[in-house]
Amino acid sequence: MKILIVGSGGREHALAWAVRGTGRLFIAPGNAGTTEFGENVDIKATDTEGLVSFSRQENIDLVVVGPEVPLAGGLADALGQAGIACFGPSAVAAEIESSKAFAKAFMQRHNVPTAQWQAFLPDQIEKAKAYAQTLGRCVVKASGLAAGKGAIMCEDQASSDRALHDLLAIGRLGDAGREVVVEEWMEGEEASVFALTDGDDYQVLDPAQDHKRAFDNDLGPNTGGMGAYAPTPVMTTNLIDEVCGSIIEPTLEGMAYEGRRYTGCLYAGLMITEQGPKVVEFNCRFGDPETQVVLPLMGADPIEVLLRAANGSIGNLRLTKQSLAAACVVLASGGYPDSYNKGYPISGLNAAREIPGALVFHAGTKSDDQKILTAGGRVLGVTAVASTLREAVSRAYESADLIQFDGKHMRRDIGHSALGRL
Ligand code: AMP
Ligand code: GLY
Repeated sequence: MKILIVGSGGREHALAWAVRGTGRLFIAPGNAGTTEFGENVDIKATDTEGLVSFSRQENIDLVVVGPEVPLAGGLADALGQAGIACFGPSAVAAEIESSKAFAKAFMQRHNVPTAQWQAFLPDQIEKAKAYAQTLGRCVVKASGLAAGKGAIMCEDQASSDRALHDLLAIGRLGDAGREVVVEEWMEGEEASVFALTDGDDYQVLDPAQDHKRAFDNDLGPNTGGMGAYAPTPVMTTNLIDEVCGSIIEPTLEGMAYEGRRYTGCLYAGLMITEQGPKVVEFNCRFGDPETQVVLPLMGADPIEVLLRAANGSIGNLRLTKQSLAAACVVLASGGYPDSYNKGYPISGLNAAREIPGALVFHAGTKSDDQKILTAGGRVLGVTAVASTLREAVSRAYESADLIQFDGKHMRRDIGHSALGRL
């Protein structure tokens, strides 16, 4: 068995960990952590041609695509044309993430519950402002891919006017923000549900919760995610059934009906509102850092799950419910998600891995002459698996505290609201 994982973050290190030891593994381009389980290949995640020709040359049996950009750019389609199995959707199916305007209209067509919304183009800025005003508190979103920076929470009219001006008049997010979605600000608790699907059948993993804001108590700017835990107690068994019936199933059926058969991981970002679960956004891939907590709890051979999703037989699989919990604390570079410095040596990695249940996933790291250096905004995701969430959180922090680098920043409250609820 030969597997190629595409990407270079914590999610891809977790995927490499999950499939470790099953034949030969390549990661393109990978990070300093992924070399523990496979060979890093110097091909960019966005180099579709390079990835297809490498896969052909190496006779790769399965390509697992981590990030959204290559999927939106048609990597799964190109691999399919070359006869190579791929975990990840086609470009038209990935539009569920790469065009929020498409995703919202799709949800409306198929009665999938989501926030009230309208989409606007640059010549409709005054209409957009007027619509935002009717909503009061609202969220202004770039319709295209914006690396987690595309949603602007607007408390009042002044901030929605400013956000619309920035995106539609100044073009702050370039093409990604040429079209915007203005939507109702939903109240409730967030949860992420991952459905692994072959287009017909699906399996849901333990629901996770991400911590998007940079600082404790959900303060500061949105980031790619500062930590996660699973399972989240807000998602009761009844609620998971409701999400499957009212969100996951109509979405998979609707996508197939519209000629956009969806395969891979459908990530439903949810708000659990007083009226029930509603979609905040769909992503066409695994979440990062949520993957670092859901894969260790998967309850089946990860290779089998990914292959069955890619090859069309996921319905026959049974995931065994694990009575375990996992928490992940992201160690970020000081300044992230704004500008930050890179190239600082990281120490304490070996000691951190000795904490029982700890898994240290690399994200923005690189090796340089025996040393491991910081090389990105999110540097490491320190995960711990234990029999209770309380223990998982405590072990993850015990491990994270042993790692040092200049400017290290982490949130101290990962999982705390869930611990309060329990
Ligand atoms: P998105 O880019 O759509 O994932 O949004 C990023 C984050 O912004 C979400 O995880 C939420 O925390 C927040 N958010 C986005 N849309 C809404 C909404 N309609 N109501 C409340 N919060 C939202
Ligand atoms: N952690 C949020 C995301 O992967 O989009």
